[in-house]
Amino acid sequence: MAYRWTNDLTAADVTPKSVFMNRRQIMAGAAGLGAIAFSATQAAAQDALEPNTLEDITTYNNYYEFGTGKDDPAKNAGALVTSPWSIKVDGLVDNPGEYSVADLLDGLDIEERIYRFRCVEAWSMVVPWNGVELADILTRAGVQSAGKYVAFETVVQPENMIGVQRGVLDFPYVEGLRMDEAMHPLTMLATGIYGEPLANQSGAPIRLVVPWKYGFKSIKSIVRITVTDTRPTTTWNKINAREYGFYSNVNPEVSHPRWSQASERRIGGGLFAKRQDTLMFNGYDEVASLYDGMDLTAEF
Ligand code: MTE
Repeated sequence: MAYRWTNDLTAADVTPKSVFMNRRQIMAGAAGLGAIAFSATQAAAQDALEPNTLEDITTYNNYYEFGTGKDDPAKNAGALVTSPWSIKVDGLVDNPGEYSVADLLDGLDIEERIYRFRCVEAWSMVVPWNGVELADILTRAGVQSAGKYVAFETVVQPENMIGVQRGVLDFPYVEGLRMDEAMHPLTMLATGIYGEPLANQSGAPIRLVVPWKYGFKSIKSIVRITVTDTRPTTTWNKINAREYGFYSNVNPEVSHPRWSQASERRIGGGLFAKRQDTLMFNGYDEVASLYDGMDLTAEF
């Protein structure tokens, strides 16, 4: 895997390759492929991904149901009603139903995973998520062999959502993954950040996190998970297919039609902080094989 290092980056700007290797081992451990001792190098690996503050993470958001400004979700998402909450699991599964979050996660360990998060708008953060692997939920649901994709849908509470009242997008917000992406051990359903339940603006009570894809794939406040045999519609693709493809993999070599994706600005670094090179798949090279043989300039 060739990273696009540039020689003007400091150690603080990038995570060295050795650290990625260590993180891979952490992920392998997290995936249940074998318990590993938490060594000093692994601790260093986590340190290298210095998380943003909770303040940064909960005040600079995209959640169009609550407005289009970055500070709108923090201002307006207090109105979201997150309890009771139920998630419909349907489509090509053996165990369809309406599940509470507690039932959906019953018996699963909530893990912490520190992930880079890269928005298509070329800003990024590092977020310590708490949650479970989506794969565990799908396995419980009993994905049938005809299931090729997973579709997700966000709640619509028009009375509580100013962006819905204003019709800023076609709601509900919808997203989708190919089955192998959905089953990948990096893909999470998150219920918390820094050990606290998700703030409403972060997608309470449960959201998707797909760290190698642009942030818009990580759909918030999920009420429906549908296994299907056809590629799901996604909100941003529906609005502008030329700018937002189905795959949405972080790819510094494929520019957004209106701006470059080669670098990113880390939120919290201050206005004059140096931009960082964007890494292919946001640095998560363990997913590269999912896209073997695909032309990633056509399938963006
Ligand atoms: N989910 C819903 N329901 N509505 C949205 O507007 N915005 C997406 C994604 N999930 C969005 C959403 C976009 S564009 C990004 S970059 C991330 O959420 C932002 O997540 P964050 O606010 O937790 O950083």
